[in-house]
Amino acid sequence: MYEVLYVTSEMYPFSKTGGLGDVMGALPPAISRNGVRTAVVTPFYGRMNLDGHKLRLVYSDLHIGYPWPSTTAEIYQTDYEGISVYFVGRGEYFDRRHYYNTHNGDYFDNCERFIFFCKAVLKLARMLPSPPAIIHSHDWQSALVPPYLYFERAGDSFWTHTKTVTTIHNLAFQGRFSERLFHESGLPPEAWSMHGAEFYGDLNMLKASVAYSDAVTTVSPSYAQEILGPEFGCGLEGFLNSQAHKLEGILNGADYSVWDPGSDKFLPCCYGPDAVQGKQECKISMLREFSMSEQLEDKPVLGFIGRLRDQKGIDLLIDILPGLMEKDLGVIVLGEGNLAYEARLQELMENYPGRLCVLVGYTENLAHLIQAGTDIFLMPSRYEPCGLTQIYALRFGTPPVATAVGGLRDTITPYPADGATGFTFARPESGLFYDAIMQALGAWENREEWVRMVERAMRKEFTWDRAAHEYINLYRKLGARI
Ligand code: ADP
Ligand code: GLC
Repeated sequence: MYEVLYVTSEMYPFSKTGGLGDVMGALPPAISRNGVRTAVVTPFYGRMNLDGHKLRLVYSDLHIGYPWPSTTAEIYQTDYEGISVYFVGRGEYFDRRHYYNTHNGDYFDNCERFIFFCKAVLKLARMLPSPPAIIHSHDWQSALVPPYLYFERAGDSFWTHTKTVTTIHNLAFQGRFSERLFHESGLPPEAWSMHGAEFYGDLNMLKASVAYSDAVTTVSPSYAQEILGPEFGCGLEGFLNSQAHKLEGILNGADYSVWDPGSDKFLPCCYGPDAVQGKQECKISMLREFSMSEQLEDKPVLGFIGRLRDQKGIDLLIDILPGLMEKDLGVIVLGEGNLAYEARLQELMENYPGRLCVLVGYTENLAHLIQAGTDIFLMPSRYEPCGLTQIYALRFGTPPVATAVGGLRDTITPYPADGATGFTFARPESGLFYDAIMQALGAWENREEWVRMVERAMRKEFTWDRAAHEYINLYRKLGARI
């Protein structure tokens, strides 16, 4: 049956709030293209993109037994890009306006929702004709699957040959809840330990996942190193050091069937490294679309796309915007998140009509248009486990200016090195960010050199096939015969 079963709370094109969705829409199909039979389990959200996808109901009342002895789930299934996708449905948990939180904070019952989800995954896996060789869970929402399996495996031969892998996409989100919820989770008392699910008197779901998984990965080699130290370890560095023998970094890829200006369905005009002119047409359309000044057609336009959160360093951009806008250039920001940052950006926009455009919201097609229509991509992240938007920016010929951290370090060759594809600065400080932008603007002035850098960036390949090979090697190292 299935050799690898992925567990995730987001999967593009069905559901997405950020990079996790992109990864889970691309990695499982890449694994399947390499000849491994693959399935994904994900929640059935009320708000999902089901355009053109036919779902069939496989179980109308799969017994889960949590939080009440009689609780059941609905399971739907569809085929997508060579893999099978199972959706776990229970209206009271997943039929909501958002996936995890509203502007007022996290849903109060997030722990219960994802305990339910993780239990459902294992119940569903037991209904399959044979157990998967690997169950691979992602981030805190799926994090109880490895510990549940670990303790079931001890007394149940069904799981003897199943190994578990946890991938950390963002260590800042650990799924930390009160001790009461540990007792509700059904994990055995022995898991309540500093070597297990307990963390300063709380339940820590991601920590439990790391403790009881056979292998742990993060989404770039640099981040795998960084999280072992106090600056990026989010309090877990000591524990992670004790688990370092089973930790490795595997760099994400980009799904070039979705993110390539040569075939992008959201762009007014396609282009590639051998015909870069199309990028200028995209820029002109974008300026029109956002009612920006025509005079920017031959001036540098800088773009930012991302969550308006401290992680992404949006406050650093806000700090330097007044100084930056003194220059002859345009800036576009697309994002949503912290209300104070949204408000400050909108306030600043009033001061620079036609040159500073702030789009508050989450709009997939605009992200593509901005990638194509801008000249320089801004990514001043404080930390970045991998980062996908800078990888897309390279392919779209929009050299990034980024902090030299995590996956940004692993994907950008910084100017003025031979083969440069972008610009980096050492620490997330506004002065250093500003200087790096000035360096990029200086390079932009030298048109021939700039076009060479753009073409070079566009030719960089971060394929999912490469990442898929690394994951398959890891699965084999764990003993999976695939
Ligand atoms: P993270 O997962 O930390 O948010 P990534 O760079 O890995 O960062 O992935 C972000 C993904 O979310 C990209 O596909 C990006 O285009 C998308 N994205 C982020 N913010 C927005 C937005 N406001 N509108 C549309 N897409 C967005
Ligand atoms: C997380 C990280 C981001 C990474 C993404 C996909 O959201 O913040 O850096 O690219 O996961 O792995």
